[in-house]
Amino acid sequence: KRLILIGPPGSGKGTQSPIIKDEYCLCHLATGDMLRAAVAAKTPLGVKAKEAMDKGELVSDDLVVGIIDEAMKKPSCQKGFILDGFPRTVVQAQKLDEMLDKQGVKVDKVLNFAIDDAVLEERITGRWIHPSSGRTYHTKFAPPKVAGADDVTGEPLIQRKDDTAAVLKSRLEAFHRQTEPVIDYYSKKGIVANLHAEKPPKEVTVEVEKVLS
Ligand code: AP5
Ligand code: ZN
Repeated sequence: KRLILIGPPGSGKGTQSPIIKDEYCLCHLATGDMLRAAVAAKTPLGVKAKEAMDKGELVSDDLVVGIIDEAMKKPSCQKGFILDGFPRTVVQAQKLDEMLDKQGVKVDKVLNFAIDDAVLEERITGRWIHPSSGRTYHTKFAPPKVAGADDVTGEPLIQRKDDTAAVLKSRLEAFHRQTEPVIDYYSKKGIVANLHAEKPPKEVTVEVEKVLS
């Protein structure tokens, strides 16, 4: 399957992705994760992306389209993929369509993680991540067995630099202004499935499974 996950910061895209990936054997491409890796490694791409990311603004379309174009060439992405956090502008969606047209394939479904802004601050400020695996926890909603440590490796957890209430405001603004039009773009194609992303994670997974079966 070829899937796109769209939703505001903290709506649960990264939480549901590994489950979908394991069940449907797809490649998981998360532009946010790829950009954070580039920033950490101080690559030329990372240097260019850092300022916008720290402010909670979108990185330029050219940069993100470039990394997706490159990543989609991987053999594991030929049979299907999950795009998490891409496309986030109508221009990115159009570029993606051009890439897929060349391969003669189409996006099957867009999962829209619909949720009220009001609940997102608590989700974002309570998030803790195990950097090397990407496993995500939450102090209240998904606490690790030992506070501050990863369940599998016991290694320390970190918080994302943009996971503050102040930066969340800009991220939400970018979502409403630049990314919501992408949902309309795909609605016109009749492939959007709306999820109740405010429900507990397991219930969201059940909804995802219904949509994909
Ligand atoms: P990105 O990394 O994509 O961040 P985001 O879109 O803001 O989304 P998040 O990762 O914050 O949320 P999520 O939905 O994955 O939530 P999660 O499942 O972890 O992008 C970061 C930055 O990179 C952007 O600001 C931009 O600068 C740049 N960028 C990336 N892509 C770009 C693009 N295409 N174009 C331009 N720029 C781009 O859940 C959050 C927390 O809540 C966790 O702690 C989790 O445990 C908990 N939780 C999850 N689900 C539930 C639930 N159902 N109930 C209770 N708690 C839950
Ligand atoms: Zn994420």
